[in-house]
Amino acid sequence: MRQVHFLAIALAAAGAASACAEDAPEELTRRGAPGASGPTSASVDAPAGEAGSGSAATNSASGKAYFASTVFPLLSAKCASCHDVGGVGNPTWVMKTDASKTYELVYANGWVMPAGSRILDKGVHGGGVAPALSDADRSVFLAWVAIETKDGGNLAQVNVLEKFGSCLDPALFAQIGLERLVTTRRTNDNNTNAVTPWNENANNCTGCNNAPCRTCHSLDDATGFVLALGNPNVPALMTFEETKKILPPYLQKYVATGPDGRPIASNGLAKKSDATRRDRAYTHPMFTIPAEVQGRIDAFVNAAITKYAAGTCGK
Ligand code: HEC
Ligand code: HEC
Repeated sequence: MRQVHFLAIALAAAGAASACAEDAPEELTRRGAPGASGPTSASVDAPAGEAGSGSAATNSASGKAYFASTVFPLLSAKCASCHDVGGVGNPTWVMKTDASKTYELVYANGWVMPAGSRILDKGVHGGGVAPALSDADRSVFLAWVAIETKDGGNLAQVNVLEKFGSCLDPALFAQIGLERLVTTRRTNDNNTNAVTPWNENANNCTGCNNAPCRTCHSLDDATGFVLALGNPNVPALMTFEETKKILPPYLQKYVATGPDGRPIASNGLAKKSDATRRDRAYTHPMFTIPAEVQGRIDAFVNAAITKYAAGTCGK
């Protein structure tokens, strides 16, 4: 009976937002165009005397000041207990007492977007203990994104990523060997973060025991990640082509931008892998990325960033 129960959930998960039996459903607001439309000439000079202690250039001194005074306090209060360094929440993206660093981290994760931002979309999580942003919080966050957009910061982020697809090299992508990545069952032997409950009964879950990622990520935009390689029903180049998209946020698993609009590696797969090793049974299946695979992901991402910097994308 349990078996039927979990299988049904796993099947439902393939079309919904969660592979997890207990997670509250996440609100999915990813579809739709980014609000940041229309060309604006972005000023890249960081004006002197901006708020905060960090030093990274920003397009929007007023956006950064608004973030520090209005957005940061609520993220610090509601999210930092888990998402600061050493917390159980992965990735680390809030510094409880450093607004400026947090500003950079939110950018680095590719979340400064009016649609598709995981900060807006992430619902209740962590088994019910981790809150979602309230409607009022979301309005504040969106007001901030609007300031960034007006001043070119958010536009820089969106525009860089929109063009970035043409920097990706299909051969380097194919070399990663993502089709061979599989999940690992949670057992007594691999509970490195002492999580409870941890052990999974392979009969009770689909995709948690040595399953290739394509089991769930063949083309389900609700999961925010695409990996259909090895699926005979899907054209071989589809995964590469889909990975260029920023909505759903597929590209952001590999690259994000800094507050100055420069592309940087986002390490989305490594962050997710880390999160699975800290999360409990029957949430996202655990997986580990072998060092040589991570090395080839880095080579793929770094080559694209180098091309972008050299202005040789799309050639
Ligand atoms: C009680 C601990 C806890 C708190 C508080 C918490 N989180 Fe999390 N968060 C987690 C854990 C554990 C993970 C990794 C597992 C997962 O993705 O659910 C995570 C992952 C995330 C992720 C990255 C994974 C993804 O789905 O993209 C985002 C974004 C996120 N949380 C947003 C938030 C926001 C926004 C807040 C504050 C409103 C918050 N979290 C507060 C525990 C917490
Ligand atoms: C049983 C189904 C299932 C399997 C198998 C699975 N995933 Fe997922 N994955 C999901 C679902 C559902 C989500 C969205 C909810 C969440 O973040 O946990 C997701 C989310 C993700 C995300 C995060 C997307 C975001 O927006 O942050 C990444 C990255 C990811 N999976 C990678 C993998 C990799 C790599 C594998 C193979 C080693 C894998 N998944 C195997 C179901 C699965």
